[in-house]
Amino acid sequence: MCSMKYEEQIAKIENIVSHPLRKFKPGELRGIIERYENNHRKSKQAFERALKVIPGGVEHNLAFNFPFPLTSKRVYNCYMETIDGVTLLDYLMCGGPIILGHNYKPLTEKILEVIKESAPCHGITSEYEYLAAEQLQKHFPSCEKIRWLQTGTETDMLAIRVARVFTGKKHVIKVGGSYHGWSDQLVYDMHVPGTKRMESHGIPKEMYKYMDSVPPNDIEALRDMFKEKKKVAAVIIEPMGGESGAIPVRPEFNKEVEEICHQNDTLLISDEVVCAFRLHMGGGQAYFDYTPDLSVFGKIVGHGYPSAAALGGRADIMATVAAGVGGGAKRAYCGGTLAANPLTCAAAYWAMKYVEETNATEIAGRAATRLSTGLNEVFEKYNLPWFSYNYGGTVHFHSSCVFGLDITDPKQGPQIKHRKEFMEHMGAALVDQEIISVAGSRFYTCMLHDDEIIYNTIKKMEKICQKIE
Ligand SMILES: Cc1ncc(COP(=O)(O)O)c(C=O)c1O
Repeated sequence: MCSMKYEEQIAKIENIVSHPLRKFKPGELRGIIERYENNHRKSKQAFERALKVIPGGVEHNLAFNFPFPLTSKRVYNCYMETIDGVTLLDYLMCGGPIILGHNYKPLTEKILEVIKESAPCHGITSEYEYLAAEQLQKHFPSCEKIRWLQTGTETDMLAIRVARVFTGKKHVIKVGGSYHGWSDQLVYDMHVPGTKRMESHGIPKEMYKYMDSVPPNDIEALRDMFKEKKKVAAVIIEPMGGESGAIPVRPEFNKEVEEICHQNDTLLISDEVVCAFRLHMGGGQAYFDYTPDLSVFGKIVGHGYPSAAALGGRADIMATVAAGVGGGAKRAYCGGTLAANPLTCAAAYWAMKYVEETNATEIAGRAATRLSTGLNEVFEKYNLPWFSYNYGGTVHFHSSCVFGLDITDPKQGPQIKHRKEFMEHMGAALVDQEIISVAGSRFYTCMLHDDEIIYNTIKKMEKICQKIE
């Protein structure tokens, strides 16, 4: 289970958000930014050039480092070299999917074979399509049938469509703060619970007529919502809690949601985009012991190779996405020219096999536990209220706790901005220590983060703690 008890996690979050932020000493922050600028001049030039053709100069939220994004030259094992010649210890792991380490040679070789033999895509099926589906099903028995797609976003979008077709009901409930991609209906109550339509610019509010959310871990609120909206097609959950467990889940919550869903003929959708193969070989559903009706998979099923995602679930439900055109049959329309291409399916098949053979999930999980334990010792030593915990190979470390803010509290709500800024400073301070993290608050481990690397990471965090007021 999680390396820290739920009650302790909640108490520590409340402690952080109800006290003033512990910031960097101004001189130290200046030093961090100056060294960042000096050490990454080529990345800065690349960013300035990109700004001329790319809105904001960078595509993905994860790549948005403060004070400017870094440009990669090569990645290998658990390292990333930037075009500045700086080698960073990598805990970004592409936002989760890399667990064998970057460019894992046996996997790369298999992919090169496919490229040489059949090119990346050709439009008809390949054997890898069912081989990969069989491999996924082996670890996720709730997935009697599987359909390959291309991103977590479209898979979540399809999951709710399937639920509506199958149940004939319309309402969908998510948990506040959870992220299920950026499709129209799911850009709702994301990141900080209670923010509802805060990020939904360009999406008509009518889009949310049948979409709602409940506060994290609040099973009574969910029960009440079922009374209010009698026809609920689906409840969608992130198994570790919102933002991959940054808003930690109460361990019994997922099972309780399953019970409520099944009492109401509502489908439970488990969004396994981050949990599958990283938290447990059988994902959140095996770890927390519940059985969803539909499961959403994303980037990790193909170990980061492009266009890898899948929807899996009960055979009768999944029948609504059978392929074929037209006929007016009652089905959930979906498509995707590049979906299930041989390259991605081969990547998925071999990646799952190698993760299983190498025991990567367990090894990365053990490294993560050592890391979060060591970070807590350091935070305590420096008398900081910060804390860390891990769910398998996902380590969270909370210093400013943006996700823990209660936006209905007039004191806490307005703090989102400067608490987020602090996370950016933390991200820069980590780069200063030649470490790249997820948004200055999360580390994803892989099977190559060995004891020595973890030890050095903890020592480097200690240096960061010495820079705090
Ligand atoms: C839980 C969860 N669901 C869905 C998504 C969206 O996946 P994608 O980025 O492939 O669209 C993400 C992305 O990080 C995620 O963490």
